[in-house]
Amino acid sequence: MSRETEGMELVTGATGYVGGRLVVRLAGEARPVRALARDPSRLDVPAGVEVARADLLSGAGLEAALEGCATAYYLVHSMEAADDGDFAARERRAAERFGATARAAGVERIVYLGGLVPRDPRSSAHLRSRLAVEEILLDAVPGSTALRASIVIGARSSSFRMLVRLIERLRVLPFPAWHERRTQPIDERDAIEYLARTPLSPAAAGRSLDIAGPDVLSYGAMVERIAELMGVARTPVGLGLSLTPAASAVVAAIVEQPPELVRPLMESLEHDLLPRDDAAHGVYGLRLRSFARAVEHALHEWESTEPLAAR
Ligand SMILES: NC(=O)c1ccc[n+]([C@@H]2O[C@H](COP(=O)([O-])OP(=O)(O)OC[C@H]3O[C@@H](n4cnc5c(N)ncnc54)[C@H](OP(=O)(O)O)[C@@H]3O)[C@@H](O)[C@H]2O)c1
Repeated sequence: MSRETEGMELVTGATGYVGGRLVVRLAGEARPVRALARDPSRLDVPAGVEVARADLLSGAGLEAALEGCATAYYLVHSMEAADDGDFAARERRAAERFGATARAAGVERIVYLGGLVPRDPRSSAHLRSRLAVEEILLDAVPGSTALRASIVIGARSSSFRMLVRLIERLRVLPFPAWHERRTQPIDERDAIEYLARTPLSPAAAGRSLDIAGPDVLSYGAMVERIAELMGVARTPVGLGLSLTPAASAVVAAIVEQPPELVRPLMESLEHDLLPRDDAAHGVYGLRLRSFARAVEHALHEWESTEPLAAR
């Protein structure tokens, strides 16, 4: 390992939301970082960050990207339109390839951000797939860490943006049956803090830890709080039905996101998504931001770059 690559940290998903934020954070601490992208021309990284071109599904470029890395962040998912349509199989394939290549390259820890797991993990294909990826990565490199989160609240987070766009565009909010399900969203700054600290925390090695914000909210309450913080009045109308397959197509059109992304996200809302325990607090000791602070911060950043019509 050369001096330049000592302790190198590979960040996959660097063109994405979480990966992009993490690259900036790690580089800001002067840690050696390599950003992986399928198309590096779409990357916008700070000076000093290495860039690697690789595709996790085909495996092209992966060996070179992982060479000399002590840590590899796994921040990709395959929720995009594809010929075979089976995102779970694609996710499994990508994780198996990544795990095996990372182990062969001598990576000490893969750090993965997945989703909280509902009590009945059979219920959402998306969450089941996130869990399968976790198991594959922890098996491949046993010193790895999986962090499980609910919705990350941030201006660029797809799930948060979907909620804000709905509130922005609909005066009457039709609430399906899942509006009573509860979860604990996390502030983007806290999620990034957990990710950045993980390789430095021996107590997190070989573990799967739930990371959740301090507020337990039903999805209905979450939407009402966001509307309140956006300064708009919205009328909730209970439907008493789930309607996910049909409703996700309508929601996708309203929020202008691909149905392949919206449907699995909406399916995840059909269950309580709560942390198993507070073990992460014992390991990291972070003081977490409230839901209201997270939303205020995200809306502030959003409005500094693009208009938020409803406000
Ligand atoms: N956002 C949330 O609320 C949230 C909550 C809990 C957990 N998470 C987890 O956080 C992780 C990242 O999510 P995100 O919100 O940052 O997603 P995102 O913005 O959609 O980013 C996904 C990234 O995956 C990359 N990617 C997809 N297929 C790839 C492939 N074959 N090879 C290489 N890269 C590939 C994409 O690259 P391209 O730009 O080339 O498409 C993109 O950079 C996921 O594991 C997700 O489950 C997110």
